[in-house]
Amino acid sequence: MSESTAAFLYLVSGVLFILALRGLSHPTTSRQGNLMGMVGMAIAVLTTLFLAEPSFGGLLLIVVGIAIGGTAGAVIARRIAMTAMPQLVAAFHSLVGLAAVMVAAAALYAPESMGIGTVGAIHGQALVEMSIGVAIGAITFTGSIIAFLKLDGRMSGKPIMLPSRHAINIALAVLLVVLVVWFAISESHLVFWLIVLVSLALGVLLIVPIGGADMPVVVSMLNSYSGWAAAGIGFTLQNLALIITGALVGSSGAILSYIMCKGMNRSFVSVILGGFGGDSGPAGTQDLGDRTIKQGSAEDAAYLMANAAKVIIVPGYGMAVAQAQHALREMADKLKEAGVEVKYAIHPVAGRMPGHMNVLLAEANVPYDDVFELEDINSEFSQADVAFVIGANDVTNPAARDDKTSPIYGMPILNVDQAQTCLFVKRSLGSGYAGIDNTLFYKDNTMMLLADAKKMVEDIVKALDR
Ligand code: TAP
Repeated sequence: MSESTAAFLYLVSGVLFILALRGLSHPTTSRQGNLMGMVGMAIAVLTTLFLAEPSFGGLLLIVVGIAIGGTAGAVIARRIAMTAMPQLVAAFHSLVGLAAVMVAAAALYAPESMGIGTVGAIHGQALVEMSIGVAIGAITFTGSIIAFLKLDGRMSGKPIMLPSRHAINIALAVLLVVLVVWFAISESHLVFWLIVLVSLALGVLLIVPIGGADMPVVVSMLNSYSGWAAAGIGFTLQNLALIITGALVGSSGAILSYIMCKGMNRSFVSVILGGFGGDSGPAGTQDLGDRTIKQGSAEDAAYLMANAAKVIIVPGYGMAVAQAQHALREMADKLKEAGVEVKYAIHPVAGRMPGHMNVLLAEANVPYDDVFELEDINSEFSQADVAFVIGANDVTNPAARDDKTSPIYGMPILNVDQAQTCLFVKRSLGSGYAGIDNTLFYKDNTMMLLADAKKMVEDIVKALDR
């Protein structure tokens, strides 16, 4: 295949990747977006194969590699629970980081095969690209492994604050810059592996102080890093597709991190510096002081909603944990049959990953037209008879709106307190991710439905049938 044909095909795959990202921005077009991404990737892989014209042995290795990787990926993707998606993404990113390290090592030991010079005489520009690529790749590798361990509960989700951690991180970062320069001048294999070692350590140290629940922001940031690492390697290999794909992954990951930080009203720097968030408060008894709550039953909730004209459902992380989305749709269908107007309100950071609630509701076949973003529905709570909050907490906390001293002050919230009655489904009066008390529980127009979300909704459905 000629270079110009390959460049054209790489451009086609680049355009398909951009269309894929566009498609993924809305549930109705996301399948189409996924398909475009798959076609783009197939074109890019085949073009690279035809351009490189590998030997039979090389081709066999590639096919076996694709078969093993593809099968493992397909099996994992089929089996994974939606709630485990953030840790799966983290695990996959660690592999992207590792791949960047491997490719850079291959380029170091066999530069001729990559067209970047000969051993001991690799082009200066390629050495710089390789060293930066390998550093980002190694940081992404260990950082993503720590993120995976925290998100999967195999390591405490609480921030681990090492003494003098900022000083240590700055020292390691400076050392890394020195090593990169040294490697670019010397092409020393020892320095190359020192860069890998320091970067692996930095990856661990950067991520351990970050609380488990801040991890989605970090995963998306690591996603961005892995994209830039791939783009760096793309320059080394002079592969246009890798540069385009890496840049797209790098920039989309950065934009996503920014959107999440904005939704949580936290600065990106404060997330990176860590120390916020941890395991969400356990279910159990609480010291209420002199405050009282109004507690209701499934029958009370069914009665209130069946007699309402308008109900707005606010799902949160607890719905995902309880896997209550199917029962919830059944409940909404019954209410609609009874002539009640039912809508769903989604906060941009409800749950633990972007689009978490949208995906779960789509899985339960909730019509897209019933689902509204915060800015489109917030003004409607004051006309709603019931706000049905299921497993959400922080995204409804009025402290974010009214209390200037609150750590979440400034985060946009869903104004559920403005509805005539607010029904709150959760297991206890424990806090959510931010670890902050929610004054809404103690308001006169709030009725607490203390139970597992799925069990409570199933009981409401039964009560609606009676
Ligand atoms: P949270 O504030 O975390 O509250 C979830 C609530 O669900 C908890 O208070 C918990 O109370 C309840 N719960 C847990 N398991 C349950 C079950 N089986 N049945 C019923 N309730 C259950 O959730 P949210 O309102 O969705 O807010 C999300 C938070 O995560 C925000 O603070 C956001 O900033 C943060 N965050 C989000 C993202 C993204 S991108 N979505 C990323 C990082 C951080 P009980 O223990 O009393 O049941």
